[in-house]
Amino acid sequence: MAGGPVAAGGGIGGTGTPKNKWSGILMTAFAAFGGILFGYDTGVIGGVKVMDSWLRTFGKDNGSGTYGISTSTESLVVSILSAGTFFGALLAAPMGDFLGRKWGIVSACLVFSFGVALQMGAKAIPLFVVGRIFAGLGVGMVSCLVPMYQSECSPKWIRGAVVSCYQWAITIGLLLASIVNNATQHRPNNSAWQIPTGIQFIWALILAAGMSLLPESPRYLIKRHRDEDAAHALARLLSASPHDPEVSVELDEIRANLRAEEELGESSYADCFKMTHNKILFRVLSGIFLQAWQQLTGINFIFYYGTTFFKRSGISDPFLISVATNVVNVGMTVPGIWLVDRAGRRSLLLIGAAGMLFCEYIVAIVGVAVSDTNLAAQKVLIAFVCIYIAFFAATWGPIAWVITGEIFPLNVRAKAMSMATASNWLWNFGIGYATPYLVNPGAGNANLGVKVFFIWGSTCVGCLIFTYFCIPETKGLSLEAIDVLYQNTTPIHSVAYRRRLIAEEEALGPVGMQEKE
Ligand code: GLC
Repeated sequence: MAGGPVAAGGGIGGTGTPKNKWSGILMTAFAAFGGILFGYDTGVIGGVKVMDSWLRTFGKDNGSGTYGISTSTESLVVSILSAGTFFGALLAAPMGDFLGRKWGIVSACLVFSFGVALQMGAKAIPLFVVGRIFAGLGVGMVSCLVPMYQSECSPKWIRGAVVSCYQWAITIGLLLASIVNNATQHRPNNSAWQIPTGIQFIWALILAAGMSLLPESPRYLIKRHRDEDAAHALARLLSASPHDPEVSVELDEIRANLRAEEELGESSYADCFKMTHNKILFRVLSGIFLQAWQQLTGINFIFYYGTTFFKRSGISDPFLISVATNVVNVGMTVPGIWLVDRAGRRSLLLIGAAGMLFCEYIVAIVGVAVSDTNLAAQKVLIAFVCIYIAFFAATWGPIAWVITGEIFPLNVRAKAMSMATASNWLWNFGIGYATPYLVNPGAGNANLGVKVFFIWGSTCVGCLIFTYFCIPETKGLSLEAIDVLYQNTTPIHSVAYRRRLIAEEEALGPVGMQEKE
C-alpha cells in the first residue's frame, strides 16, 4: 500500500466550506503517518541487512574476517514482512468493523511495535524473522485502515488528493529509511543496526498517539447505531457544535448512503467473481492485476536491493545512491499528484510503462556491455535508474492506488479493495523473495546481476498491454458515472465515451446519472 483501500461511500463535507477546510487538511496531514510507517518499514531492511554491525550479529564469519548471510536468509529477512502484510491486509476489514477504524489503527500499531521489540531483542535470525512477521501484520492492517479512515472522515472535495498523498508519505518513509541507514552504516559498535530498527517505534507511537486523539469515523458509528457519538465525532471534524444544522445535514447524508448500501445487500467474496451487467468480475480482476503489475515494474528491487546491487556494480557509495533514488521518488510523486486529475489515469499509466520500459532496457544494455570499472557507464546507469524511478513515481506509484479506490461497484468495494491490496503485498513478497536468487552470484542462483533489468523491462511491456486493454479513463468522473462507463464501453473506447459522460453528468448531476442508469 503500498497504499490501501478507500472504504465504500463515505466522505464528509460535501460543500467544502472554509469552516471544515482546516480539519480536512489536518486529517490528511496526520493520517499520512500511516504511509510513513509503511514506507520506512519496507525500506529500512535494505540498508540494515548490509550493515557490518547487523552482519556481525546475525551472519557467519566466512573465513576472511568478514561476515555474510546466505541468499536464502537474505530472501527470507527481506520478504517475510510482505508475507505478514498480506495477512494483515486481509485481517484489516473485519478488525476495522469490530474495533472501529480508529482503535483498529491503534491496535495495528501495538501489533507492529511488538514485532519491532522482537527484532530489537533478537540475537539470531529466527527471532528477527518472527519480529518482521508481526511488524508486517501491523503494516498490512495500517495499509488498509488508514486510507479507509481517511476516506470516511475527510471532506469529499479533498478525498482524491488524500489517496495520492498517502502514496507520497510512503515515499517519504522510504527516504527517511535510506537517510537513517546512511547515517548509521559506519558506526563501529555492534548495536548500530538497532538505531534504524528502533526508529520504527517512533512512527508507530506518533500514529497511535495521534489517532487516539482524533474522532472515530462518524460513518462507522452510525453503522453501529451510535448516533449520539456520531454527531459528536462529526461536529469535531467540522469544527461545529453537535446541534449545528450542518452536522444534521451531513448525518442524514451518511444515513442515506448507508441505506443505499444496505439495499444492495451484504455481498460475499464469491459475488466479486460473478459475471454481471456491470462487469464486476472484469473490474475486480483488473484491480487485482493492476496491483500485481505495479509490483512487476520491479520498483521494490531498487528499494530492497538497491544498496547491494549498486555495491556489486562497483559504485563507491551505494548508500548515497539509495538516498538519491529515494529523493527522486519523493520529488516526482508531487507532479504525479498534480497530473492525475489533469492528464488522466489511463494515459499516465501508458506513458509511465513506456518510459520505465525504455530506461530499464538501457540500464540492462549499458550494464552488460560495459565493465564495472567504467566511471562514465556507472553514471549512465545511475541516471537511467533515477529516470526510471521518476516515471514510476509520477505514474504507477500513486495511480494504481487511485484507480483501486474508484473502479469497484459499491456493493463489493470493501472486499475487492482488500483483495487488490493483498495482491500488491503478495507480489511484493514474491519479488522480494525471488530477487536475490535471480541476481546474486553463487551456486544455485541465476547470477543475473544487472541483466535482471531485462526482466523488469519486459514486465513493463506487460504493464503497457494490460493498461491498453483493461484500464479505462476515469478522470473527473463520479463513482456512479464510472459504473455507467464500465457497462457501456470498453477501456479502449473509454476516452471518447468519458467526454460524453462528463457533459451528461454536468447537465444531470450524479443523482440524475444514477436514475438514468
Ligand atoms: C507503491 C508500491 C510500494 C512501493 C512504493 C514505492 O506504494 O505499492 O510497494 O514500495 O510505491 O514508492
